[in-house]
Amino acid sequence: MNISEKLGFTHIEWVDDHLVVLDQRKLPLSEEYFHIRTIDGAFYAIQNLVVRGAPLIGITAAYALCLIENHEDRDSFFVTCETLKSARPTAVNLSWAVNRMINAYESHVGDENLERILLDEAAKIHREDSKMCESIGLHGNKIIPDECRILTHCNAGALATGGIGTALGVIYTAFFSGKMIEVWVDETRPVFQGARLTAWELARAGVPHTLISDNASGKLMSENRINLVIVGADRVAKNLDFANKIGTYNLAVLARYHNIPFYCAAPTSTFDLNCPDGGSIEIENRSADEIRNVFGARISLPATPAYNPAFDITPNSLLTGMITENGILTP
Ligand code: MRU
Repeated sequence: MNISEKLGFTHIEWVDDHLVVLDQRKLPLSEEYFHIRTIDGAFYAIQNLVVRGAPLIGITAAYALCLIENHEDRDSFFVTCETLKSARPTAVNLSWAVNRMINAYESHVGDENLERILLDEAAKIHREDSKMCESIGLHGNKIIPDECRILTHCNAGALATGGIGTALGVIYTAFFSGKMIEVWVDETRPVFQGARLTAWELARAGVPHTLISDNASGKLMSENRINLVIVGADRVAKNLDFANKIGTYNLAVLARYHNIPFYCAAPTSTFDLNCPDGGSIEIENRSADEIRNVFGARISLPATPAYNPAFDITPNSLLTGMITENGILTP
């Protein structure tokens, strides 16, 4: 049984004539599927975190471009591509995947099999992502000691990709190769991808894990209870500065202070060589209500001013290594 089979869930699948995704807003309490039949539906799903995680957003957008009714209308195809790209600005996999679909479109526009060709390209992007996750897992496993307590942030697992995940791909590969792995899962406010999604995935895989509040990592590091940190990325700049879920930078600074190796795992589809450094990566700001309220329950006054950047930049100087499908890069 391979690692995907051990995880035992399908979270993105083209079924007959449309895309079916696991609704990540509902996890872990309910496993419901969301049917994407239109471009508007895809845009909604990406922007509202029905699907999230840089690689998965890209795969969703690629399949979504197969839902356009009249593919021969070139202008409308390009407008749709730009609309999809704007759904979430930081995760570069989104524009990367849409650009791949544009290339397939340009090479075959006018072909009577255009729809089939686009669907094949989307499925290929999906398959390739799965393979990249496997390779990241194998390369990353080389830096994991036989016994290791690992902290991860947000969700860079299967739910964020088309395969076994990036940061969690490394953890799964190490665990299923027989290493004694324990994972510290931070909750990842404000949307709780750690508490809701990473803990759910690790429980399914049988990987020992413990949920902590975002504020607890400093205490654990100071007590030598974290041996290594691995996170994912939404965009990696040319100099290996990278954007990831807000709070990643805090962890990188803490890890440096405590001399703990700090790794990022990301496929090359997350690299943006047009960004020379982290300063040129656009950071998505999300609704202030995401932090004023917790899933609809008010925790602050509706008028409390709030600022909600979804990502931060970790400079390459804090990075021990960048684990990619081609090997481990050092700054
Ligand atoms: O806002 P999200 O949930 O899409 O943010 C996701 C992350 O920050 C992940 O760490 C990143 O996309 C890497 S996923 C392999």
